[in-house]
Amino acid sequence: RTTPADALVIFGVTGDLVHKMIFPALYAMVKRGVLNVPVVGVAGSKLSLAQLHTRAKDSIKQAGKIDDRDALDHLLSLLKYVGGDYNDLETFKAMKQALGDARRPAHYLAIPPTLFAKVIKALGSSGLADQARVIIEKPFGRDLASARELNRIAQSVFPEDSIFRIDHYLGKEAIMNILYFRFANSFLEPIWNRNHVASVQITLAEDFGVKGRGTFYESAGCLRDVIQNHLFQIVALLAMEPPAYQGFGAVHSEKAKVFQVMRPLQPDDVVRGQYTGYRKEPGVAKDSDVETFCALRLFIDSWRWQGVPWYLRSGKCLAATAAEVLVELKPPPQRLFDDSAPVDGRANYLRFRLSPNSAVALAVRVKRAGKEFVGDQRELYLLNEQPGEEAPYERLLSDAMAGNGALFTSEEAVEAAWVVVDPVLDAHHRAHPYKPDSWGPKQADALIAADGSWHNPRSV
Ligand code: BG6
Repeated sequence: RTTPADALVIFGVTGDLVHKMIFPALYAMVKRGVLNVPVVGVAGSKLSLAQLHTRAKDSIKQAGKIDDRDALDHLLSLLKYVGGDYNDLETFKAMKQALGDARRPAHYLAIPPTLFAKVIKALGSSGLADQARVIIEKPFGRDLASARELNRIAQSVFPEDSIFRIDHYLGKEAIMNILYFRFANSFLEPIWNRNHVASVQITLAEDFGVKGRGTFYESAGCLRDVIQNHLFQIVALLAMEPPAYQGFGAVHSEKAKVFQVMRPLQPDDVVRGQYTGYRKEPGVAKDSDVETFCALRLFIDSWRWQGVPWYLRSGKCLAATAAEVLVELKPPPQRLFDDSAPVDGRANYLRFRLSPNSAVALAVRVKRAGKEFVGDQRELYLLNEQPGEEAPYERLLSDAMAGNGALFTSEEAVEAAWVVVDPVLDAHHRAHPYKPDSWGPKQADALIAADGSWHNPRSV
C-alpha cells in the first residue's frame, strides 16, 4: 500500500474543482519536489494539450502568482490529455496508452458523484484498476443506501486500502491540530468528558451564497454538503478516545466508533433555514425547500460523553465567514465570588478557531485590580499560523499518491455517519426563511436555549 503511485489520472480535468484547487496544488507539489510522474487529464471535451496548458496556467495565476517558471514548465511537461466519453471503452484504451509504462496509477475522480460508479466499473473492466488507487471526493453517496452501494461498487474493483476518500477538512492545519492538541498535552484529558464539559458547539459560517452551484446545491442542501462530512469529522476528532498506538489504523477505528455511538437524529434535533433570495439563484426551483442553513443538537452515547449536547451549525449567507469550535466547561462547583457565574456565558471555555486562521484560546476569569474580588473573563490566546503551510489538496493528493491513508475517511466511518443523519434527510420541518447577513433563523436560537446561546465567530 505504501508504494508510491507512478502516475496521476485526473477525471474531470476541465471542471471547476480542478481549476480552483487542483492545478495550484499540483504546481505547489512540483515546487516541493513531490510530483514527478505523468499527470493524465481526462474529460469529455475536445481539447488540445496546448489548451489544457493554458487552463492550467490560468488556474495557477488565479490562485496566486507564478513565482517558479521551472516548476511550471515541469508541471506542463508532465501533463497529458485524453478526451472522450466515460461510456466509451475507447476512452479507457486511450488512457492506457497515455499512461505508458506506469503500472500503479492513482485515479482521482474530480467528477460529479453520479458518474463515480460508471468510471470505477470501467476502470475495473479495462484493467486500469490493477495495482492502482482511486481517490474520490465527498459527497460519498446522498444517504445511507447510496453510500453503501457506492462503497460496494468501489470495493468490487479496489481493495479498501486503495480507496482514498477525500474530505478536504481533514487536510487543514487547524483541524489536524485538534488531534495533536488533544493528545500531545496532558492537561486536557482529565477534564475532557461529561464531568467537566457542559456542551460543545461548532459553527461553520459563510457570508456568501451558493455561488452559481445552485443545481448541485438543490440535490444536496447544507446537511449533506458540509455537516454529515466536514462538521462530523471535527466532532470525531474532538470526541474520539485516544488511539491505542501511533498509526492511522488506530485513528480511523477510534473515529468510526464515535459515529457508531452518535444517537441518530430526530426531527426536533434539527432546524433548517433558507436565505431569502436563494430561490432566485440559477438552477434553483422557485418553490425549493432545500436548506442553506442547518443547526442541530447531537448526543454521543459513550461513557465519556453521555448527556453532553453537541450543537452544530452551518449556513450560507450568514454574517461572517469563519469556523470555530467552543468547548464550554461547567462552572465552578461553588459560587465564592459574586461575579463567578457570569451572566453572558460560562467562565471557562476552550475555543478552536479553524478558519480563516488557526488559533486556540482558553477563556478564564482573572481578578480586576482593586480591593473587591471581582474579575473579568479573558482569553489566553494562541495564534497558530506558520509560513509555508501546505494547502489541503496539496497535502491530500501527495498523501494519496504516497499511499498514506491517515487523512482520509474509511468506509466504516462514512456509513456510520449516514446512519446518524438518515432519519432526518427527508425534511420533516420546512426550512425557515432567514435574512442574508444574519445568523440564520431564530428557531436555531431556541434549539440551543437550554444550554446558553450560540457563539458567533467573527470573520477576522
Ligand atoms: C465544500 C462545500 O465541501 O466545502 C461548499 O461543498 C463549502 O459548499 C466548502 O463552501 C467549504 O470549504 P472551505 O475549505 O472553503 O471552508
